[in-house]
Amino acid sequence: MSHTIVDLFAGCGGLSKGFELAGFDVVAAYENWDSAIACYNLNFNHSAKQLDLNDVDAAVQEIAPMKPTAIIGGPPCQDFSHAGKRIEAGRAGLTESYANIIQQIRPRCFVMENVARAQSSHAYAVAREIFKTAGYGLTEQVLTASFCGVPQSRKRFFCIGALGEPDGFLDSRLLGKLSDREMTIRDYLGDELGTEYYYRHPRNYSRRAIYSIDEPAPTMRGVNRPIPKGYPGHPKDACSVNDSVRPLSTYERARIQTFPADYRWIGSKTDQEQMIGNAVPVNLGKYVAEALLDYLNGSIDNEQIANIESFRSWLKQEKKLASRSISDVISRLKRVNQFLELSDDADIDLYSMRLGRIDAFASQSPSVRSHLKRAAKLYLEFAQHTRALSES
Ligand SMILES: C[S@@+](CC[C@H](N)C(=O)[O-])C[C@H]1O[C@@H](n2cnc3c(N)ncnc32)[C@H](O)[C@@H]1O
Repeated sequence: MSHTIVDLFAGCGGLSKGFELAGFDVVAAYENWDSAIACYNLNFNHSAKQLDLNDVDAAVQEIAPMKPTAIIGGPPCQDFSHAGKRIEAGRAGLTESYANIIQQIRPRCFVMENVARAQSSHAYAVAREIFKTAGYGLTEQVLTASFCGVPQSRKRFFCIGALGEPDGFLDSRLLGKLSDREMTIRDYLGDELGTEYYYRHPRNYSRRAIYSIDEPAPTMRGVNRPIPKGYPGHPKDACSVNDSVRPLSTYERARIQTFPADYRWIGSKTDQEQMIGNAVPVNLGKYVAEALLDYLNGSIDNEQIANIESFRSWLKQEKKLASRSISDVISRLKRVNQFLELSDDADIDLYSMRLGRIDAFASQSPSVRSHLKRAAKLYLEFAQHTRALSES
């Protein structure tokens, strides 16, 4: 089954491309910067549309009829990158707009990406409250791109939500596939750059500027400067400045952001540098998307979710369970379904036997196993009851 995606604040399409490569069907994207829109539209079959996402009502009107499985997006990070409450107060509104759009459309899932420090910002606290009130369970993690198939030590915060799930619902899927060692430029690009060392202009000279291709690259930022005359050097530089050390080209920076070699670029050099620096590395987006897809494919689908509302009422009326226990049963049911898909007409003994043969299930504690089996049993009893009613 194909899962549809709408990308907000889509930029030149780093996050969209990652989701597309993971197997999602990206159907629409919104952005308000024309250069980024032009670049995005060169690379996808659907188009990015110009929209100021401060206008929540306009966004909801456009997107709601598409009924996407998930909305993804990274509101602008400048608000948080250079900290300062004054700046945050001015622009953090877009993080809140994103949350309001999610709250009004209520897609099954969403992914919000931002700089690592956004997690402790006031704007995020407001957005988080909106997500929780709307009924989303959240996985909140900072990922380092170099452990997710990207030769760059960029750190990014992801808040991933799913309706009706407990907090942390995606943690094990998201963290379980991190590589055990960081990816270097040589690992990813071989000797495509044709240089062993390169210059990345530091924010100030207390930081180093010369890097080796045998380490992950530092974060690709939105500006790219030549080596200034009289660069003083730094004790941690990978080598001393010499004729073979050079800054990376715009294209090379895009490659380190893991954009495919045939990604098409348009616009002034300054604009391209900016959109490349803004982007979610394609492979980081793909990494997150794969975890989400795994969850969506392994968990109960939309039709069954509707069914869960009747299951909830049945547990209350027939089994006299309190709402807390009902929520526990439902989250266990979703969990057990991730180990082994549960069909409405399954035989509980056969199902339990098959479950026992799944290593990941067998390695759970006895009490977890017993809770999960009980949830499956209750659900099958309910399914049987529903069948009997519809046949009578
Ligand atoms: C962090 S970048 C997103 C990068 C993108 N996710 C990617 O992977 O390529 C944030 C984007 O938000 C856009 N933006 C800023 N203000 C906006 C607004 N009011 N409405 C829509 N887009 C906006 C910026 O132009 C920028 O491209």
